[in-house]
Amino acid sequence: MALIELTDVTKRYTVGAQEIRALDGINLKIDRGEYCAIIGPSGSGKSTLMHLLGCLDTPTTGRVVIDGVDVSRASDGRLAEMRNEKIGFVFQAFNLLPKFTVLDNVELPMIYSGKSAKERRARAIAAVERVGLSERMKNTPLQLSGGQMQRVAIARALVNDPKIIFADEPTGNLDSKTGATILALFRELSEQGRTIVLVTHDNEIAANAPRRIVIRDGRIVQNADNWHSGLRAAPSPQEAHT
Ligand SMILES: Nc1ncnc2c1ncn2[C@@H]1O[C@H](COP(=O)(O)OP(=O)(O)OP(=O)(O)O)[C@@H](O)[C@H]1O
Ligand SMILES: [Mg+2]
Repeated sequence: MALIELTDVTKRYTVGAQEIRALDGINLKIDRGEYCAIIGPSGSGKSTLMHLLGCLDTPTTGRVVIDGVDVSRASDGRLAEMRNEKIGFVFQAFNLLPKFTVLDNVELPMIYSGKSAKERRARAIAAVERVGLSERMKNTPLQLSGGQMQRVAIARALVNDPKIIFADEPTGNLDSKTGATILALFRELSEQGRTIVLVTHDNEIAANAPRRIVIRDGRIVQNADNWHSGLRAAPSPQEAHT
């Protein structure tokens, strides 16, 4: 069974007398260990789709199954449980707490995990080391560069050992060189078997993922491996050196 499966999904918003079809007949399967990019212009429904995939919201109609659990009509509490157990998020704006240290920010998602303080600290340290920020554990976010802040956010997304990581424009606030280091980190995580869904409006960034899902006006208009669509994924850092 696919890790993520959407069947005939729609999402409509009603604003005053106007109805907006943000998603319109989405069918999509994502397997364990896949790294895919969801790409499309502004307003095409990318974030709306990511919110459904990431158990942040439920569809108006249709079925969303995540890791064998039908969450189409799940309560807010059940959705929160799913997110805690299975999902990590990375956003364009980092969303770090400015008065907390790096380590405390990374520990936050474990508050409801039932783990002891000692284990929480040990896991947070491991996640911070994983993203290469051992030297900055005691700093606060405002003492870091943008790329370092995003790495803290990635450590925070990793700390509960989620099955899936969703990243919505994770390089949107970074210069292209710093953005490339963040994309290299996602690629490494993918090579280690993590399922990653990257949301972007930028073709070049999407080309980092082996599979691209193109969305326009709330519909999937292309769903293919980059290789087959003629757009080869960018070389991994190792390949680039050889
Ligand atoms: N809470 C909401 N209420 C009403 N309309 C919404 C809401 N959220 C999104 N929309 C509308 O749904 C459509 C899809 O929005 P969405 O945020 O998914 O686009 P996007 O592809 O992520 O765009 P961007 O690249 O600008 O982030 C847009 O027309 C948007 O205005
Ligand atoms: Mg968006």
